[in-house]
Amino acid sequence: MAAKKLSGTKVARAMRKEMAAEVERLKADHGVVPGLAVVLVGDNPASVSYVSGKRKACEEVAINSLEHKRDADFTEEALLELIAELNADPAVNGILVQLPLPDHIDEHHVLDAIDPSKDVDGFHPINLGRMLVGEECLLPCTPHGVQQLLLRGGVDIEGKHVVMVGRSNIVGKPLANILLQRKEGSNATVTVCHTRTPDMAVHTRQADILIVAAGRPNTITADMVADGAVVVDVGVNRIEDASRERGFRLVGDVDYAGVREKASLITPVPGGVGPMTITMLLHNTIAAAKTAHGVE
Ligand code: GUN
Repeated sequence: MAAKKLSGTKVARAMRKEMAAEVERLKADHGVVPGLAVVLVGDNPASVSYVSGKRKACEEVAINSLEHKRDADFTEEALLELIAELNADPAVNGILVQLPLPDHIDEHHVLDAIDPSKDVDGFHPINLGRMLVGEECLLPCTPHGVQQLLLRGGVDIEGKHVVMVGRSNIVGKPLANILLQRKEGSNATVTVCHTRTPDMAVHTRQADILIVAAGRPNTITADMVADGAVVVDVGVNRIEDASRERGFRLVGDVDYAGVREKASLITPVPGGVGPMTITMLLHNTIAAAKTAHGVE
């Protein structure tokens, strides 16, 4: 029997409704309007599209969104100056620097310069360290979004074998750590596979929950999945498609058509993890604004 679809669009819609009410309450009771600064250097088409998605999401819940777009030759020094200004600006509760940055800019220098209390991406080493030891912190959006999508989709993570394919700093490493936490909604047994794992299928076939963030279409085919597994596809790949008006279509890292015949539950691309990532960014911006203003 074909898998049920786990729709991030639906879960994200429900969460954003709750958040819009929360933002309204913050404004009415405390005069606080959360502010998110988004910094985009250059004109990478995927990045431009993500940034516009973030702007629309902020509008949806009435968060103030402030965009700072700079040319691709913007220097690292100038970017660090801009971040220092945003760190000092009380109207800015969250700072997001869209990745990837141009090659002449060191990503670590930039991410380390963001005030950890405004690090709504959860990429600062202070927040990643707090996450690792289980302290309260701003969690990275895609990993946190995947966990929320599973939990709100009725998937019990506790004690399950999660196989994570991919070890990026943005998804694989933090997500493996979040699901490993000794906390309700986590407590999984986690295996992490990557490009140097020989015979990955040996591991992926053992998964109760298979999460794929490899950045390559068809990384996971039906023969690599156990009957009844839950499959989460974090991949977003642009495939040239002349039949589409914009010239491409989006596919994940999982062969959806094949794998949905084996899995019990599967996230689509688009409409799976993507909407959850932006939703958790809104969540972090609201949380950062509350902390900045001492609101419960
Ligand atoms: N580029 C791809 N994903 C992300 C993300 O979650 N945050 C930022 N800042 N850049 C990205």
